[in-house]
Amino acid sequence: MKLAIVGTGYVGLVTAACLAKAGNEVTCIDNNVSKLARIAAGQLPFHEPQLPCLVNEGRAAGRLRFTGSLRDGVQDASIIFLSIGTPSAADGCADTSSLLACVSSLAEMLDHDCLVVVKSTAPVGTCDTLQEIFRSKLRARGTGLHIEVACNPEFLAEGSAVHDFLEPARIVIGTASAQARAMLRQLYTPFDADGKRTLAMELRSAEFAKYACNAMLAARVSMVNELAAIAAQMGADMDAVSSVLRTDPRIGGRYLQPGVGYGGSCLPKDLRALIRMAQDRQEPATLLRSVELVNQRQVRLLFDAIRQYVGDDLGHCRIAVWGLAFKPDTDDIREAPSLILIRMLLDAGAQVSAYDPVANKPVRRVIHDAALNLSDDAYAACDGSDALVVITEWDEFRSPDFSRLTRCLASPAVFDARNLYRREQLAAFGLRHYRIGQAGKAPRQAVPTPYAASPEPSELRHNGGY
Ligand SMILES: NC(=O)c1ccc[n+]([C@@H]2O[C@H](COP(=O)([O-])OP(=O)(O)OC[C@H]3O[C@@H](n4cnc5c(N)ncnc54)[C@H](O)[C@@H]3O)[C@@H](O)[C@H]2O)c1
Repeated sequence: MKLAIVGTGYVGLVTAACLAKAGNEVTCIDNNVSKLARIAAGQLPFHEPQLPCLVNEGRAAGRLRFTGSLRDGVQDASIIFLSIGTPSAADGCADTSSLLACVSSLAEMLDHDCLVVVKSTAPVGTCDTLQEIFRSKLRARGTGLHIEVACNPEFLAEGSAVHDFLEPARIVIGTASAQARAMLRQLYTPFDADGKRTLAMELRSAEFAKYACNAMLAARVSMVNELAAIAAQMGADMDAVSSVLRTDPRIGGRYLQPGVGYGGSCLPKDLRALIRMAQDRQEPATLLRSVELVNQRQVRLLFDAIRQYVGDDLGHCRIAVWGLAFKPDTDDIREAPSLILIRMLLDAGAQVSAYDPVANKPVRRVIHDAALNLSDDAYAACDGSDALVVITEWDEFRSPDFSRLTRCLASPAVFDARNLYRREQLAAFGLRHYRIGQAGKAPRQAVPTPYAASPEPSELRHNGGY
């Protein structure tokens, strides 16, 4: 099939490369010319495992091309995917202005029948609005063209996006006609040969399903974090508690680790948009608002625990941070908890020395503060630091050289915001270990420090977790 993909970002480029791999002829369109120039020069605009290889293969086979011209890119395409960003507006709504503007342009320029498929996460009713734009503009042009809008929300996760696309857990297709449904089923056959993972439904249900999935995931993360904070107050160990939760088939085994909360380009913004959608329809969204509040508290808990350890005056402190990306295997820093923590530390007067395997560059573009040093080496970032905060669970942080770490740090404390380490493991190297959900078990005065005496479990409990 001949396909066009408008929006060559995390979703658009992965979709394009995977559909080209399946034999389709795909044109990627973007209005960011510098992004296209980088791709043309063989550099992908973001880090995503397996993607460079797939893009190179597609280009070499002549099945993947890039253009800045919408008119040129959509020529003869049977299906046009829209994977344009829908960021949060100031009031929490999803900002669909780029999506609407793009569809207005398409309605003025298209000269052939085609299917327009929304991959962007957009509020319920957006496809109806887009269909109406086509209807009215095509009528005004006096053409008899048939352009149908469908919804195909994307569920890939950054860091495993290629795998998620090639072997999807589900493919959701929202359509208003059997013809559009058949076209999308055919397109996705290489990724779902027996069709069992393809779920076809009405447009609005497909649009809502994406928000529902993200809301369920966010709620789970916040639930585990809230349970961990309560466990710490009660002298219970959240790891042990999670091991019990994991055995309950009604609960399932994933996302049971407490941590610093969710971030990234989807969960926070989609939750905000869903709350707005609900409230606009007089639904209170009480639970969803609590999920957000619990999440916002997580970074504050971490900051408070660090401050309790180093003392109220952070002006004389240097804090090392490992991990900047909102999750491993991506360089995406949109709404990353690390950046919120770093901002809080800098505002409190601390020096921050941070390291991430791939996300230093994007952070350099958004934080310009002389007190923030971005290091290319994990141990150099720790040199002379008063504590290390591990905030993204990159594999390389799972088994570091602890004796080297002890030598680098001026004060041997590790704030383990992703629960990567065991207390005994760090204690063996004289490192104090702070992790959420285990406050009562922090080793006491493992190594003398220039700061306050080792916190008593009772003091730590005030942090609600660390
Ligand atoms: N990133 C994810 O993991 C993920 C997963 C599922 C769904 N989504 C959703 O997919 C959509 C895209 O997300 P993303 O992370 O790929 O965003 P992104 O910012 O990485 O990419 C969007 C691209 O669209 C381009 N663009 C914007 N307006 C345009 C226009 N009028 N014409 C041509 N190009 C235009 C931008 O230049 C950018 O390259 C969002 O709605 C997001 O919520 C994202």
